Amino acid sequence: MSRFMRIFHHLIRSVVFLSVLSISSVHAAEKIDLIIDTDPGADDVVALLLALASPEQLNVLGITTVAGNVRLDKTSRNARLAREWAGREDVPVYAGAPKPLVRTPIYAENIHGQEGVTGVPIHEPAKGLEQANAVNYLIDTLRAAKPGSVTIAMLGPQTNLALALVQAPDITKGIREVVVMGGAHFNGGNITPVAEFNLYADPHAADVVLKSGVKLVYVPLDVTHKILTSDQRLKQIASLGNQAGKLVGDILNEYVKNDMAHYGLPGGPVHDASVIAYLLKPELFSGREVNLVVDTREGPTFGQTIADWYDTLKQPKNAFWVENGDAQGFFDLLTARLGRLQ
Ligand code: RIB
Ligand code: CA
Repeated sequence: MSRFMRIFHHLIRSVVFLSVLSISSVHAAEKIDLIIDTDPGADDVVALLLALASPEQLNVLGITTVAGNVRLDKTSRNARLAREWAGREDVPVYAGAPKPLVRTPIYAENIHGQEGVTGVPIHEPAKGLEQANAVNYLIDTLRAAKPGSVTIAMLGPQTNLALALVQAPDITKGIREVVVMGGAHFNGGNITPVAEFNLYADPHAADVVLKSGVKLVYVPLDVTHKILTSDQRLKQIASLGNQAGKLVGDILNEYVKNDMAHYGLPGGPVHDASVIAYLLKPELFSGREVNLVVDTREGPTFGQTIADWYDTLKQPKNAFWVENGDAQGFFDLLTARLGRLQ
């Protein structure tokens, strides 16, 4: 081959290589700037481990804690514990609202245990909380963020974000979307016959967020009750042979017992981790834009979410309602990411 042909051949190969590289970089999803607002909570801990094990996809800016499953001091301690178990003490934790906006506080120690995490021994984590309050952190971070750049994973009552929105309505500019674990439509609630715990624990906060106009995705019981543990799935996790696999196996073994007994199901949901899985692999889930309202009236429907799935009332669509999910795909993802941890 002449010298000219060798140079020409090399040139063609370089052009092909560079164009493939640029296409793959375009298709490689952008990293998500993420704030996780949470009330750990057994399933919150699993969600935090899944998120913190996925740094190439999720840039977790901070964790904000709220009272919910247990009181604020314990949800904050448990968020620090999850961070330590994930080996991610680089992520700051900010404590937020100690109680709901209006209603009397409720907790779920009967489900999550007195310490707020089932099935495993608890210790005081080495690294502490940040000084700033979570609400001020949300306001400062969202005001400083590029427009529409920050995603919020909302894993507990929405009190912190509601307080931030009341104090600084302009922060909606910095929010890309809020992905909420909460609500129930087709198959009823878990804390009352019609209401799901996170919405029931602070429906007024959910109403403030709903009316703020931020882009909302709801991951309700409608889908989390289709993504259930099984002996095989829990064995898959426990057999990872690392601390994270042992912790999650033990946490979930205990956590799912209540739901299995209550619903007579062969397994239990991992509610909050479904939100993180939605962010990591949205193709595992399906749903539709709906008009969503939350009932804040005292009485039997307090905290109920009404998702107009068939657009009966022809009202404006204000939330994407996730209704289905690939259960095995979820557990394969969870197991693989936990396998990355210590
Ligand atoms: O109803 C389930 C939700 O309430 C989950 O977020 C669980 O952690 C509790 O907060
Ligand atoms: Ca939670």
